Amino acid sequence: MERILNLLKKPAIQYSLVIAFLALVGGAGWAFYQTQVPPPQPIQFPHNIHVGLQIQCLYCHPGAQRQASAGLPTEQKCWACHGQLKKYSDPANPVPLEKWPPELQKLAGYVQRGEAIKWVPVYIVPDFVHFNHRPHIAAGLNCEKCHGDMSKKTVATIEQTVNMGWCLACHQARTANDPVKRTKLIECGTCHY
Ligand code: HEC
Ligand code: HEC
Ligand code: HEC
Ligand code: HEC
Ligand code: HEC
Repeated sequence: MERILNLLKKPAIQYSLVIAFLALVGGAGWAFYQTQVPPPQPIQFPHNIHVGLQIQCLYCHPGAQRQASAGLPTEQKCWACHGQLKKYSDPANPVPLEKWPPELQKLAGYVQRGEAIKWVPVYIVPDFVHFNHRPHIAAGLNCEKCHGDMSKKTVATIEQTVNMGWCLACHQARTANDPVKRTKLIECGTCHY
């Protein structure tokens, strides 16, 4: 793969290939999509409830603003709230654990065992693609644009086929009046290096 990608850094080869690849992307994208059916999660985490409570995306996914990966919350971050929610843990009137909703019992189990929750990835790009959240958030794109309306979901699901055509279509649309930036954003080496 690396040798092919090095060869592809030659501009003349790139132009003819862009066309060929865009034609292929439909098919490749479908194969890729099939690996992206939402997987079962260890805890059926309800985004809708938490987003409805006005908890910010960046509170649980702080990396999105400053680095490549957005990050997923640890059981400790969940417990910072859930260990104290009055509804269940009021010191004067605690609700016994076996009366908690089942998904919260699971959470308490992870915390008691000191075991990390192994969230299963949903959005994935292959290793030979470099996606970085930071420039996207800095350019003013909101999470919803790529991940859909999380206030209507429990666990995350894939909103659209995450393939090269999707990346390039937006990069082209967003640089209509800026040819220099466009060249940079559709250059193979911007995403493959
Ligand atoms: C331009 C499209 C785009 C935007 C905008 C975007 N994301 Fe993502 N997000 C992606 C892609 C693509 C991946 C897969 C990345 C990978 O596999 O390396 C991803 C992965 C993730 C993941 C899981 C993997 C990780 O990075 O830890 C989380 C969580 C996430 N995004 C949250 C957010 C949040 C929160 C925001 C808003 C602050 C946001 N994203 C904005 C495209 C986007
Ligand atoms: C900032 C505080 C906060 C954080 C952080 C938080 N939650 Fe919650 N969560 C709440 C509140 C408040 C509710 C609503 C409680 C209720 O009314 O029963 C809730 C509800 C839930 C429910 C639904 C319970 C039911 O009634 O069925 C689950 C499951 C849950 N949270 C799991 C988690 C997990 C897992 C994490 C970590 C990834 C987490 N929460 C992080 C505050 C938080
Ligand atoms: C209270 C914590 C919390 C909040 C607030 C929260 N999330 Fe999440 N998010 C999670 C957890 C836990 C997961 C892992 C389970 C899953 O995939 O749904 C997750 C998963 C995701 C994923 C899929 C990650 C992957 O593996 O590819 C995306 C995308 C995402 N969240 C976006 C958002 C956006 C956008 C918001 C704000 C509108 C948001 N989240 C708010 C806790 C949170
Ligand atoms: C919805 C629009 C949109 C989508 C989808 C999108 N991007 Fe972007 N991307 C942008 C914008 C806007 C910028 C910032 C341009 C600027 O510098 O102003 C950017 C910048 C980047 C950069 C940084 C370039 C640099 O060095 O400055 C990389 C790398 C990148 N995107 C990769 C990807 C990949 C990989 C995907 C698909 C998985 C993707 N993008 C999907 C809009 C998008
Ligand atoms: C904006 C980011 C971006 C740019 C620019 C980009 N690619 Fe990609 N490329 C991706 C993503 C994301 C994938 C993985 C998803 C897929 O297979 O469509 C990918 C996949 C590929 C693959 C593997 C296809 C397969 O069947 O799995 C090849 C080969 C490739 N790109 C070549 C190129 C070439 C040649 C260029 C320059 C003309 C280029 N890419 C420019 C994002 C980009």
